[in-house]
Amino acid sequence: MANTLAPKQFQQAVLTWFHTSGRKDLPWQHDITPYRVWVSEIMLQQTQVKTVIPYYQRFMQSYPDVHSLAKADSDSVMHHWTGLGYYARARNLHKSAQLIANDHAGKFPTEFADIIALPGIGRSTAGAISAIAYHKPYAILDGNVKRVLARFKAIEGWPGKTEVHDTLWDIAEHYTPKDNPADYTQAMMDLGAMICTRSKPQCNLCPLQKKCLAHLNYNPTDYPGKKPKKVQPIKATIMLMIQDQHGNLLLEKRPPTGIWGGLWSFPQCTTQNDIQRWCTLKDISINDKQILAPFRHTFSHYHLDIQPILIHTQQKHNIMNAGQYLWYNHQQSIGLAAPVKKLLNMLHD
Ligand code: ADE
Ligand code: SF4
Repeated sequence: MANTLAPKQFQQAVLTWFHTSGRKDLPWQHDITPYRVWVSEIMLQQTQVKTVIPYYQRFMQSYPDVHSLAKADSDSVMHHWTGLGYYARARNLHKSAQLIANDHAGKFPTEFADIIALPGIGRSTAGAISAIAYHKPYAILDGNVKRVLARFKAIEGWPGKTEVHDTLWDIAEHYTPKDNPADYTQAMMDLGAMICTRSKPQCNLCPLQKKCLAHLNYNPTDYPGKKPKKVQPIKATIMLMIQDQHGNLLLEKRPPTGIWGGLWSFPQCTTQNDIQRWCTLKDISINDKQILAPFRHTFSHYHLDIQPILIHTQQKHNIMNAGQYLWYNHQQSIGLAAPVKKLLNMLHD
C-alpha cells in the first residue's frame, strides 16, 4: 500500500467527510451566482465565517447584483464594510464592479484570465470562484488549504517562499478533481477551518489521517513552516560602573524617549577612549579600572552587547547635577533599566 493517496482516493475521502460534516448552509451557498460567490470570497479572505455572515447579508440586501454595486457611492460601500477591516478589499470590490459594468456588460466574467485580472482577485480567489460558481476544475490555496496540504504532505518551509508556495500549488492542482470541483473546494476549506485547525488539529476526526504524514509523525503543528525570524542588528555599548569609596554607584537618568526612557542607567560610552574623556569632563578620578564579563541584552528589534567596566573613584565633592545624576546606595527606590539592575545586583552580592 503506497504511503500516499491517489487523487481519486483523496477526493473521495474529503467528499465523503464533506457530505456528513461539511458546511452546506452558509448564506453564499444559497442562490449561487458568480457575483454572490465573489463577494463572499472577498469578505472571507481575511475574516472568519461567523464574522462575515451578517456583513454579507447586509451587503447583499443593499447590492444584490453587479449593477447595484457599480452604481453605489463609495461612502455607502465603505459603510457596509465598517468593522470588517482590510478596507482595500471593499475599494477593489467596488472598482471591480464598475469594471464589470463597463467592460463585461455587467456580467461577471466566466474566463479565469478575466476573473484574475480584476482588482483584489488573486489566484486562489479566482480559483474558488471558478470552481464554486462555474464548476471549473481550478485549484485554490487559501490559508486553510495551505495548512491541510502542507501537513498532509509534510512540506517543510515557509509558504511565503516561492519554492514552498509553488510546491503547495502543485499539490493543490494534483488533488483538485475535474468533476465536482465545487463541493471539493468547499470541503477543503471546511476541513482546514473545522478539523485541521492551526493550533489544535482534530486528526481523529479527519478523513485524511491514515495517510497524513504530519499526523503519522505526530507533528502537525510544525506545518506550515513559520516565517524565518529576521536577523536583528547588534549594537554595542560600554557601561561605566563608577563606584566611590563608600560603595555608591553613579547613575545617570536616561532621556525621556528612546530605550529605557526616563529610567536610571550607568553612564554609557561607545569606545574605550571615551572613558577617559568622559571622566575628565565630569572630574572623576580613575583609581583603577576593571573589565567585567560582557553580556547581551536583547530588545524586540536589536541586540545590545554590553561591556561593563568597573571604575573605582574617590568622590571629592558632589560634582554631579542632581536630577540628572545620583550616587546610588542600594536604598533608593528608582526605576532601573533591566541590565543595570542585573549589574547592580551582581556587584552587591
Ligand atoms: N473561506 C474562504 N472561502 C470560504 C467559503 N466559501 N466557505 C467557508 N470559508 C471560506
Ligand atoms: Fe490535518 Fe490531522 Fe487531518 Fe493531517 S490528519 S490533515 S494534520 S487534521
